[in-house]
Amino acid sequence: MSLHQTYIEKANSNIEKLRTKVADNHWRLQYHVASQANWINDPNGFVFYDGEYHLFYQHHPYSAEWGPMHWGHVKSKDLANWEHLAIALAPSENYDQDGCFSGSAIEKDGKLYLMYTGNTWTGENRDTDLKQVQCLAVSEDGVNFQKLDQNPVISDVPEGNINPNHIRDPKVWKNGEHYYCVLGSKTNEETGQILLYRSSNLTDWEFLSIAAKGEGNFGFMWECPDVFHLDGKDVLVMSPQGVKPEGDLYHNLHQSGYVMGTLDYDSGILEHGNFELLDYGFDFYAPQTTVDDQGRRIMVAWMAMWESHMPEKEFDWAGAMTLPRELKLENGKIISKPVPELKALRGEVVQYENSTLKGEKKIPGISGNCYELEVIIQAKIATNFGLKLRVDEENDQETVLSYNVKEETLSFNRDKAGSGPGGIRKAPAQLKDGQLHLRIFVDKSSIEVFVHDGEQVITARIYPSEQATAVSFFADDEIELVTVKKWDINGSI
Ligand code: FRU
Repeated sequence: MSLHQTYIEKANSNIEKLRTKVADNHWRLQYHVASQANWINDPNGFVFYDGEYHLFYQHHPYSAEWGPMHWGHVKSKDLANWEHLAIALAPSENYDQDGCFSGSAIEKDGKLYLMYTGNTWTGENRDTDLKQVQCLAVSEDGVNFQKLDQNPVISDVPEGNINPNHIRDPKVWKNGEHYYCVLGSKTNEETGQILLYRSSNLTDWEFLSIAAKGEGNFGFMWECPDVFHLDGKDVLVMSPQGVKPEGDLYHNLHQSGYVMGTLDYDSGILEHGNFELLDYGFDFYAPQTTVDDQGRRIMVAWMAMWESHMPEKEFDWAGAMTLPRELKLENGKIISKPVPELKALRGEVVQYENSTLKGEKKIPGISGNCYELEVIIQAKIATNFGLKLRVDEENDQETVLSYNVKEETLSFNRDKAGSGPGGIRKAPAQLKDGQLHLRIFVDKSSIEVFVHDGEQVITARIYPSEQATAVSFFADDEIELVTVKKWDINGSI
Protein backbone atom coordinates (compact mmCIF):
# COMPACT_ATOMS: atom_id res chain seq x y z
CA MET A 1 0.00 0.00 0.00
CA SER A 2 1.28 3.51 -0.80
CA LEU A 3 2.21 5.83 2.03
CA HIS A 4 -0.61 8.10 0.90
CA GLN A 5 -3.13 5.28 1.24
CA THR A 6 -1.75 4.31 4.66
CA TYR A 7 -2.18 7.86 5.92
CA ILE A 8 -5.70 8.04 4.53
CA GLU A 9 -6.71 4.86 6.32
CA LYS A 10 -5.23 6.06 9.56
CA ALA A 11 -7.14 9.34 9.29
CA ASN A 12 -10.39 7.58 8.37
CA SER A 13 -10.18 5.32 11.37
CA ASN A 14 -9.61 8.26 13.69
CA ILE A 15 -12.79 9.91 12.37
CA GLU A 16 -14.68 6.64 12.70
CA LYS A 17 -13.83 6.50 16.42
CA LEU A 18 -15.42 9.90 17.10
CA ARG A 19 -18.32 9.85 14.67
CA THR A 20 -21.11 8.65 16.95
CA LYS A 21 -20.16 10.86 19.84
CA VAL A 22 -20.09 13.95 17.61
CA ALA A 23 -23.47 13.10 16.11
CA ASP A 24 -25.03 13.39 19.59
CA ASN A 25 -24.01 17.00 20.13
CA HIS A 26 -27.08 19.27 20.21
CA TRP A 27 -25.28 21.89 18.07
CA ARG A 28 -24.60 19.32 15.38
CA LEU A 29 -26.02 20.61 12.09
CA GLN A 30 -28.76 18.49 10.50
CA TYR A 31 -28.70 19.67 6.90
CA HIS A 32 -25.35 21.37 6.44
CA VAL A 33 -22.21 19.58 5.34
CA ALA A 34 -19.59 19.14 8.05
CA SER A 35 -16.99 16.49 8.69
CA GLN A 36 -18.06 13.60 10.86
CA ALA A 37 -15.53 14.78 13.44
CA ASN A 38 -12.75 17.31 13.96
CA TRP A 39 -11.74 20.44 12.12
CA ILE A 40 -12.77 21.64 8.66
CA ASN A 41 -12.30 24.86 6.72
CA ASP A 42 -12.56 25.83 3.03
CA PRO A 43 -14.70 23.96 0.52
CA ASN A 44 -12.41 22.39 -2.09
CA GLY A 45 -12.85 20.57 -5.38
CA PHE A 46 -16.55 21.33 -5.73
CA VAL A 47 -17.52 19.61 -8.97
CA PHE A 48 -20.33 17.88 -10.82
CA TYR A 49 -18.80 14.57 -11.91
CA ASP A 50 -20.43 11.47 -13.34
CA GLY A 51 -23.95 12.59 -12.42
CA GLU A 52 -23.17 13.61 -8.83
CA TYR A 53 -21.97 16.63 -6.91
CA HIS A 54 -18.66 16.05 -5.16
CA LEU A 55 -17.53 18.42 -2.45
CA PHE A 56 -14.19 18.21 -0.68
CA TYR A 57 -13.03 20.32 2.23
CA GLN A 58 -9.94 21.29 4.17
CA HIS A 59 -9.85 18.87 7.05
CA HIS A 60 -7.70 18.08 10.04
CA PRO A 61 -8.82 14.60 11.06
CA TYR A 62 -6.76 14.47 14.27
CA SER A 63 -8.16 17.40 16.26
CA ALA A 64 -10.80 20.11 16.33
CA GLU A 65 -8.05 22.66 15.63
CA TRP A 66 -6.47 23.49 12.27
CA GLY A 67 -3.47 21.24 11.55
CA PRO A 68 -1.82 19.35 8.67
CA MET A 69 -4.50 19.58 6.04
CA HIS A 70 -6.23 16.62 4.45
CA TRP A 71 -9.16 16.73 2.03
CA GLY A 72 -12.44 15.38 3.42
CA HIS A 73 -15.05 14.28 0.89
CA VAL A 74 -18.83 14.14 0.54
CA LYS A 75 -21.07 13.61 -2.48
CA SER A 76 -24.69 14.21 -3.33
CA LYS A 77 -27.18 13.53 -6.09
CA ASP A 78 -29.35 16.52 -5.22
CA LEU A 79 -27.36 19.06 -3.14
CA ALA A 80 -29.69 18.38 -0.21
CA ASN A 81 -28.73 14.89 0.98
CA TRP A 82 -25.03 14.10 1.27
CA GLU A 83 -23.02 10.95 1.72
CA HIS A 84 -19.69 10.87 3.55
CA LEU A 85 -16.82 9.26 1.67
CA ALA A 86 -13.26 8.31 2.56
CA ILE A 87 -10.74 11.09 3.00
CA ALA A 88 -9.41 11.92 -0.49
CA LEU A 89 -6.00 13.47 0.17
CA ALA A 90 -3.50 13.24 3.01
CA PRO A 91 -0.09 14.91 3.24
CA SER A 92 2.35 12.15 2.33
CA GLU A 93 5.05 13.46 -0.03
CA ASN A 94 7.94 15.83 0.49
CA TYR A 95 6.18 18.51 -1.59
CA ASP A 96 2.96 18.43 0.51
CA GLN A 97 4.28 17.05 3.79
CA ASP A 98 2.75 19.82 5.92
CA GLY A 99 -0.59 19.97 4.25
CA CYS A 100 -2.73 19.49 1.17
CA PHE A 101 -4.07 23.02 1.06
CA SER A 102 -7.07 24.33 -0.85
CA GLY A 103 -7.75 23.69 -4.50
CA SER A 104 -10.32 22.63 -7.04
CA ALA A 105 -11.42 19.77 -9.31
CA ILE A 106 -11.89 19.20 -13.01
CA GLU A 107 -12.86 16.28 -15.21
CA LYS A 108 -10.55 15.29 -18.07
CA ASP A 109 -10.94 12.19 -20.24
CA GLY A 110 -13.52 10.82 -17.82
CA LYS A 111 -11.17 11.04 -14.84
CA LEU A 112 -11.48 13.38 -11.89
CA TYR A 113 -8.44 15.57 -11.19
CA LEU A 114 -7.86 17.48 -7.98
CA MET A 115 -5.49 20.42 -8.16
CA TYR A 116 -4.26 21.55 -4.76
CA THR A 117 -1.47 23.37 -2.97
CA GLY A 118 1.28 21.35 -1.33
CA ASN A 119 2.49 23.20 1.75
CA THR A 120 5.85 22.78 3.46
CA TRP A 121 7.06 24.68 6.50
CA THR A 122 10.70 25.61 6.12
CA GLY A 123 11.19 27.18 9.56
CA GLU A 124 9.39 28.54 12.59
CA ASN A 125 7.77 31.64 11.12
CA ARG A 126 4.39 30.69 9.63
CA ASP A 127 4.34 33.85 7.50
CA THR A 128 7.78 33.69 5.91
CA ASP A 129 9.05 30.14 6.33
CA LEU A 130 6.87 28.22 3.91
CA LYS A 131 6.99 26.82 0.41
CA GLN A 132 3.78 26.42 -1.56
CA VAL A 133 3.63 24.42 -4.80
CA GLN A 134 0.72 23.25 -6.95
CA CYS A 135 -0.02 19.55 -7.34
CA LEU A 136 -2.45 17.14 -8.97
CA ALA A 137 -4.15 13.93 -7.91
CA VAL A 138 -6.33 11.78 -10.15
CA SER A 139 -9.16 9.30 -9.68
CA GLU A 140 -10.99 6.93 -11.98
CA ASP A 141 -13.84 6.23 -9.56
CA GLY A 142 -14.26 9.64 -7.90
CA VAL A 143 -13.27 8.19 -4.51
CA ASN A 144 -9.66 6.96 -4.55
CA PHE A 145 -7.05 9.48 -5.58
CA GLN A 146 -3.43 9.00 -6.65
CA LYS A 147 -0.98 11.85 -6.64
CA LEU A 148 0.75 12.36 -9.99
CA ASP A 149 4.40 11.45 -10.49
CA GLN A 150 4.89 14.81 -12.23
CA ASN A 151 4.11 16.68 -8.97
CA PRO A 152 4.55 19.48 -8.25
CA VAL A 153 3.17 20.79 -11.53
CA ILE A 154 3.81 24.44 -10.61
CA SER A 155 6.74 25.09 -8.33
CA ASP A 156 8.66 28.11 -9.60
CA VAL A 157 7.66 31.59 -8.60
CA PRO A 158 7.19 33.72 -11.73
CA GLU A 159 9.31 36.82 -12.18
CA GLY A 160 7.83 40.11 -11.10
CA ASN A 161 6.45 41.54 -7.90
CA ILE A 162 5.22 38.26 -6.44
CA ASN A 163 5.79 37.20 -2.86
CA PRO A 164 7.67 33.89 -3.11
CA ASN A 165 6.02 32.19 -0.13
CA HIS A 166 2.28 32.72 -0.47
CA ILE A 167 1.04 31.18 -3.72
CA ARG A 168 -1.90 28.91 -3.30
CA ASP A 169 -5.45 27.69 -3.85
CA PRO A 170 -5.54 26.76 -7.57
CA LYS A 171 -8.93 27.03 -9.22
CA VAL A 172 -8.86 25.29 -12.59
CA TRP A 173 -11.27 25.55 -15.53
CA LYS A 174 -11.36 24.97 -19.27
CA ASN A 175 -11.90 27.67 -21.86
CA GLY A 176 -11.74 26.65 -25.51
CA GLU A 177 -8.79 24.34 -26.07
CA HIS A 178 -6.94 25.31 -22.93
CA TYR A 179 -7.03 24.79 -19.22
CA TYR A 180 -6.57 27.84 -17.04
CA CYS A 181 -5.90 28.22 -13.38
CA VAL A 182 -5.78 31.13 -10.97
CA LEU A 183 -3.74 31.26 -7.78
CA GLY A 184 -4.06 33.48 -4.73
CA SER A 185 -1.00 35.67 -4.21
CA LYS A 186 0.38 38.93 -2.89
CA THR A 187 3.06 41.43 -3.89
CA ASN A 188 6.25 41.94 -1.89
CA GLU A 189 4.58 45.04 -0.42
CA GLU A 190 1.58 43.04 0.87
CA THR A 191 -1.04 43.78 -1.77
CA GLY A 192 -3.39 40.99 -2.78
CA GLN A 193 -3.31 39.76 -6.37
CA ILE A 194 -4.31 36.87 -8.62
CA LEU A 195 -1.96 34.91 -10.89
CA LEU A 196 -3.27 33.37 -14.10
CA TYR A 197 -1.76 30.27 -15.76
CA ARG A 198 -2.52 28.29 -18.92
CA SER A 199 -2.01 24.64 -19.88
CA SER A 200 -2.93 22.31 -22.69
CA ASN A 201 -2.76 19.13 -20.63
CA LEU A 202 -3.18 20.03 -16.90
CA THR A 203 0.42 19.07 -16.10
CA ASP A 204 2.51 21.69 -17.98
CA TRP A 205 1.63 25.20 -16.90
CA GLU A 206 2.70 28.53 -18.34
CA PHE A 207 2.42 31.71 -16.28
CA LEU A 208 0.37 34.25 -18.22
CA SER A 209 -0.22 37.31 -16.09
CA ILE A 210 -1.22 39.00 -12.92
CA ALA A 211 -4.92 39.01 -13.78
CA ALA A 212 -6.00 41.41 -11.03
CA LYS A 213 -4.45 43.28 -8.15
CA GLY A 214 -5.84 45.21 -5.18
CA GLU A 215 -5.78 48.98 -4.88
CA GLY A 216 -6.49 50.95 -1.74
CA ASN A 217 -8.19 49.16 1.15
CA PHE A 218 -8.19 45.76 -0.50
CA GLY A 219 -6.19 43.47 1.77
CA PHE A 220 -2.64 42.12 2.04
CA MET A 221 -3.32 38.71 0.46
CA TRP A 222 -6.06 37.31 -1.76
CA GLU A 223 -6.93 33.70 -0.97
CA CYS A 224 -9.08 31.17 -2.76
CA PRO A 225 -9.70 32.80 -6.15
CA ASP A 226 -12.43 31.49 -8.45
CA VAL A 227 -13.01 32.72 -12.00
CA PHE A 228 -16.13 31.96 -14.03
CA HIS A 229 -18.46 33.32 -16.64
CA LEU A 230 -21.92 34.31 -15.42
CA ASP A 231 -24.69 35.69 -17.62
CA GLY A 232 -22.29 37.53 -19.97
CA LYS A 233 -19.72 38.70 -17.42
CA ASP A 234 -16.45 37.32 -16.08
CA VAL A 235 -16.45 37.09 -12.33
CA LEU A 236 -13.51 36.81 -9.96
CA VAL A 237 -14.52 35.60 -6.52
CA MET A 238 -11.82 35.83 -3.86
CA SER A 239 -11.18 36.13 -0.16
CA PRO A 240 -9.06 39.18 0.64
CA GLN A 241 -7.33 39.06 3.99
CA GLY A 242 -6.96 42.24 5.99
CA VAL A 243 -9.51 44.65 4.48
CA LYS A 244 -10.15 47.37 7.09
CA PRO A 245 -13.67 48.10 8.35
CA GLU A 246 -15.56 50.84 6.49
CA GLY A 247 -18.84 51.92 8.06
CA ASP A 248 -21.06 48.85 8.42
CA LEU A 249 -18.81 46.79 6.15
CA TYR A 250 -15.80 44.52 6.62
CA HIS A 251 -16.01 43.82 10.33
CA ASN A 252 -15.01 40.18 9.99
CA LEU A 253 -11.34 39.27 10.27
CA HIS A 254 -11.28 38.50 6.52
CA GLN A 255 -13.78 39.08 3.70
CA SER A 256 -15.13 37.16 0.71
CA GLY A 257 -16.63 38.74 -2.36
CA TYR A 258 -16.22 39.38 -6.04
CA VAL A 259 -15.30 41.78 -8.79
CA MET A 260 -16.86 41.55 -12.23
CA GLY A 261 -15.91 42.58 -15.75
CA THR A 262 -14.17 41.03 -18.75
CA LEU A 263 -11.23 38.66 -18.78
CA ASP A 264 -9.07 39.05 -21.88
CA TYR A 265 -7.72 35.55 -22.43
CA ASP A 266 -4.88 36.88 -24.64
CA SER A 267 -3.49 39.48 -22.27
CA GLY A 268 -4.65 37.60 -19.20
CA ILE A 269 -6.01 40.78 -17.64
CA LEU A 270 -9.37 41.10 -15.94
CA GLU A 271 -10.86 44.58 -16.33
CA HIS A 272 -13.31 44.88 -13.50
CA GLY A 273 -15.50 47.07 -11.31
CA ASN A 274 -15.82 47.40 -7.56
CA PHE A 275 -15.55 44.75 -4.89
CA GLU A 276 -18.88 43.46 -3.56
CA LEU A 277 -19.47 41.12 -0.65
CA LEU A 278 -21.20 37.81 -1.25
CA ASP A 279 -22.53 37.62 2.29
CA TYR A 280 -22.95 40.21 5.06
CA GLY A 281 -22.82 37.82 8.00
CA PHE A 282 -20.15 36.73 10.45
CA ASP A 283 -19.37 33.29 9.13
CA PHE A 284 -18.71 33.08 5.45
CA TYR A 285 -15.27 32.51 3.94
CA ALA A 286 -13.40 30.97 1.00
CA PRO A 287 -16.46 30.41 -1.23
CA GLN A 288 -16.00 28.11 -4.21
CA THR A 289 -18.32 27.54 -7.16
CA THR A 290 -18.98 24.88 -9.74
CA VAL A 291 -21.23 24.57 -12.76
CA ASP A 292 -23.55 21.58 -13.04
CA ASP A 293 -25.19 19.68 -15.91
CA GLN A 294 -28.04 22.21 -15.94
CA GLY A 295 -25.55 25.05 -16.42
CA ARG A 296 -26.20 26.42 -12.93
CA ARG A 297 -23.36 28.20 -11.10
CA ILE A 298 -23.50 26.94 -7.52
CA MET A 299 -21.50 28.26 -4.59
CA VAL A 300 -20.60 26.82 -1.21
CA ALA A 301 -18.51 28.58 1.46
CA TRP A 302 -16.95 27.74 4.80
CA MET A 303 -19.54 28.72 7.41
CA ALA A 304 -17.03 30.02 9.96
CA MET A 305 -14.28 32.60 10.22
CA TRP A 306 -10.60 32.35 11.05
CA GLU A 307 -9.83 32.91 14.72
CA SER A 308 -13.46 32.98 15.77
CA HIS A 309 -14.49 31.13 18.91
CA MET A 310 -16.18 27.85 17.96
CA PRO A 311 -17.79 26.26 21.01
CA GLU A 312 -18.41 22.99 19.14
CA LYS A 313 -14.69 22.23 19.44
CA GLU A 314 -15.42 21.00 22.93
CA PHE A 315 -17.50 18.27 21.28
CA ASP A 316 -14.77 17.22 18.82
CA TRP A 317 -15.86 19.05 15.72
CA ALA A 318 -15.38 22.52 14.25
CA GLY A 319 -16.78 24.24 11.20
CA ALA A 320 -19.29 23.50 8.46
CA MET A 321 -20.30 24.50 4.96
CA THR A 322 -23.03 26.96 4.02
CA LEU A 323 -26.05 25.76 2.08
CA PRO A 324 -25.41 25.50 -1.66
CA ARG A 325 -26.46 28.76 -3.30
CA GLU A 326 -27.19 29.34 -6.96
CA LEU A 327 -25.59 32.49 -8.36
CA LYS A 328 -27.31 34.72 -10.89
CA LEU A 329 -26.63 38.14 -12.28
CA GLU A 330 -29.47 40.59 -11.69
CA ASN A 331 -29.28 44.36 -12.21
CA GLY A 332 -25.50 44.28 -12.37
CA LYS A 333 -25.08 42.35 -9.11
CA ILE A 334 -24.68 38.75 -8.14
CA ILE A 335 -27.58 37.36 -6.20
CA SER A 336 -27.38 34.05 -4.36
CA LYS A 337 -30.40 31.87 -3.77
CA PRO A 338 -30.63 28.62 -1.87
CA VAL A 339 -30.84 25.85 -4.48
CA PRO A 340 -34.46 24.73 -5.06
CA GLU A 341 -33.58 21.10 -4.22
CA LEU A 342 -33.52 22.11 -0.55
CA LYS A 343 -37.33 22.25 -0.67
CA ALA A 344 -37.27 18.45 -0.65
CA LEU A 345 -36.14 18.62 3.00
CA ARG A 346 -39.29 20.45 4.06
CA GLY A 347 -41.80 18.80 6.36
CA GLU A 348 -45.43 19.97 6.81
CA VAL A 349 -46.02 23.68 6.45
CA VAL A 350 -47.39 25.90 9.23
CA GLN A 351 -48.77 28.98 7.54
CA TYR A 352 -50.38 32.31 8.46
CA GLU A 353 -51.45 35.20 6.32
CA ASN A 354 -52.36 38.85 6.78
CA SER A 355 -52.20 39.60 10.47
CA THR A 356 -51.32 42.99 11.89
CA LEU A 357 -48.85 43.46 14.69
CA LYS A 358 -47.67 46.23 16.96
CA GLY A 359 -45.49 45.34 19.94
CA GLU A 360 -44.29 41.77 20.22
CA LYS A 361 -45.95 38.38 19.76
CA LYS A 362 -45.33 34.71 19.27
CA ILE A 363 -47.31 32.71 16.74
CA PRO A 364 -48.52 29.18 17.54
CA GLY A 365 -46.57 26.52 15.68
CA ILE A 366 -43.81 28.91 14.63
CA SER A 367 -40.87 27.64 16.64
CA GLY A 368 -38.05 25.12 16.53
CA ASN A 369 -34.33 24.68 16.11
CA CYS A 370 -34.15 23.20 12.63
CA TYR A 371 -36.48 24.78 10.09
CA GLU A 372 -37.02 27.05 7.12
CA LEU A 373 -39.06 30.19 7.66
CA GLU A 374 -40.42 32.47 4.97
CA VAL A 375 -41.67 35.85 6.09
CA ILE A 376 -43.09 38.75 4.11
CA ILE A 377 -43.63 41.87 6.17
CA GLN A 378 -45.42 45.05 5.05
CA ALA A 379 -43.66 47.83 6.93
CA LYS A 380 -46.70 50.16 7.02
CA ILE A 381 -45.92 52.89 9.57
CA ALA A 382 -43.29 51.07 11.64
CA THR A 383 -39.70 52.32 11.63
CA ASN A 384 -38.17 49.27 13.26
CA PHE A 385 -39.43 45.71 13.11
CA GLY A 386 -38.22 42.15 12.86
CA LEU A 387 -38.04 38.81 14.55
CA LYS A 388 -36.23 37.05 17.33
CA LEU A 389 -35.06 33.52 16.67
CA ARG A 390 -33.82 30.73 18.95
CA VAL A 391 -35.38 32.47 21.95
CA ASP A 392 -34.91 30.93 25.41
CA GLU A 393 -36.54 33.32 27.88
CA GLU A 394 -35.39 31.40 30.94
CA ASN A 395 -31.73 31.85 29.92
CA ASP A 396 -32.22 35.28 28.34
CA GLN A 397 -31.16 34.06 24.90
CA GLU A 398 -32.27 35.40 21.54
CA THR A 399 -30.88 36.16 18.10
CA VAL A 400 -32.42 39.32 16.71
CA LEU A 401 -33.05 40.24 13.09
CA SER A 402 -34.28 43.80 12.80
CA TYR A 403 -35.07 46.07 9.90
CA ASN A 404 -34.44 49.79 10.23
CA VAL A 405 -36.63 51.66 7.74
CA LYS A 406 -34.71 54.93 7.89
CA GLU A 407 -31.26 53.35 7.55
CA GLU A 408 -32.52 50.75 5.07
CA THR A 409 -30.51 48.05 6.80
CA LEU A 410 -31.23 44.61 8.09
CA SER A 411 -29.19 43.83 11.17
CA PHE A 412 -28.33 40.52 12.75
CA ASN A 413 -27.57 40.70 16.44
CA ARG A 414 -26.10 37.65 18.18
CA ASP A 415 -25.03 39.40 21.40
CA LYS A 416 -27.49 37.25 23.36
CA ALA A 417 -27.46 34.21 21.08
CA GLY A 418 -25.98 31.83 23.68
CA SER A 419 -22.42 30.58 24.00
CA GLY A 420 -20.00 31.68 21.33
CA PRO A 421 -19.12 35.07 19.93
CA GLY A 422 -21.58 37.98 19.85
CA GLY A 423 -21.69 41.04 17.60
CA ILE A 424 -23.88 42.79 15.07
CA ARG A 425 -23.69 42.71 11.29
CA LYS A 426 -25.73 44.89 8.95
CA ALA A 427 -26.74 44.40 5.34
CA PRO A 428 -28.09 47.20 3.16
CA ALA A 429 -31.62 46.24 2.08
CA GLN A 430 -34.44 48.24 0.56
CA LEU A 431 -38.10 47.49 0.99
CA LYS A 432 -39.90 46.50 -2.19
CA ASP A 433 -43.39 47.97 -2.45
CA GLY A 434 -43.05 48.60 1.25
CA GLN A 435 -42.30 44.93 1.93
CA LEU A 436 -39.39 42.95 3.33
CA HIS A 437 -39.09 39.37 2.12
CA LEU A 438 -36.94 36.97 4.14
CA ARG A 439 -36.16 33.28 3.74
CA ILE A 440 -34.44 32.06 6.84
CA PHE A 441 -32.73 28.71 7.29
CA VAL A 442 -32.21 27.75 10.91
CA ASP A 443 -30.12 24.68 11.70
CA LYS A 444 -29.02 23.54 15.17
CA SER A 445 -26.23 26.12 15.39
CA SER A 446 -26.52 28.24 12.27
CA ILE A 447 -28.77 30.82 10.64
CA GLU A 448 -28.76 31.90 6.98
CA VAL A 449 -30.99 34.80 6.01
CA PHE A 450 -31.78 35.39 2.32
CA VAL A 451 -33.20 38.86 1.76
CA HIS A 452 -35.43 39.48 -1.29
CA ASP A 453 -34.60 36.15 -2.87
CA GLY A 454 -30.86 36.39 -2.44
CA GLU A 455 -30.09 40.07 -3.06
CA GLN A 456 -28.35 40.04 0.29
CA VAL A 457 -27.45 37.13 2.51
CA ILE A 458 -26.45 37.07 6.17
CA THR A 459 -24.84 33.91 7.53
CA ALA A 460 -23.95 33.24 11.15
CA ARG A 461 -23.12 30.46 13.55
CA ILE A 462 -24.88 30.73 16.92
CA TYR A 463 -24.72 28.43 19.94
CA PRO A 464 -28.00 28.61 21.86
CA SER A 465 -29.28 26.25 24.52
CA GLU A 466 -31.18 23.20 23.34
CA GLN A 467 -34.44 24.67 24.62
CA ALA A 468 -34.01 27.93 22.67
CA THR A 469 -36.81 27.25 20.21
CA ALA A 470 -39.21 30.20 20.47
CA VAL A 471 -39.71 32.77 17.71
CA SER A 472 -41.25 36.18 18.28
CA PHE A 473 -42.16 39.00 15.92
CA PHE A 474 -41.88 42.64 16.94
CA ALA A 475 -42.57 46.11 15.58
CA ASP A 476 -42.39 49.62 17.07
CA ASP A 477 -45.59 50.53 15.22
CA GLU A 478 -48.09 48.74 13.06
CA ILE A 479 -46.84 46.21 10.49
CA GLU A 480 -48.61 43.51 8.56
CA LEU A 481 -47.33 39.98 8.55
CA VAL A 482 -48.38 39.28 4.98
CA THR A 483 -47.03 35.72 5.00
CA VAL A 484 -45.44 33.57 7.65
CA LYS A 485 -44.62 30.01 6.57
CA LYS A 486 -42.57 27.51 8.48
CA TRP A 487 -41.38 24.07 7.51
CA ASP A 488 -39.48 21.83 9.88
CA ILE A 489 -36.46 20.39 8.16
CA ASN A 490 -35.66 16.74 8.48
CA GLY A 491 -32.09 16.55 7.35
CA SER A 492 -29.62 13.98 8.53
CA ILE A 493 -26.20 14.74 7.13
C1 FRU B 1 -8.19 29.90 3.30
C2 FRU B 1 -6.87 29.20 3.49
C3 FRU B 1 -6.26 28.90 2.13
C4 FRU B 1 -5.38 27.72 2.41
C5 FRU B 1 -6.20 26.96 3.42
C6 FRU B 1 -5.38 26.21 4.43
O1 FRU B 1 -9.05 29.79 4.38
O2 FRU B 1 -6.01 29.97 4.28
O3 FRU B 1 -5.60 29.99 1.54
O4 FRU B 1 -5.12 26.96 1.28
O5 FRU B 1 -7.01 27.92 4.09
O6 FRU B 1 -6.18 25.40 5.22
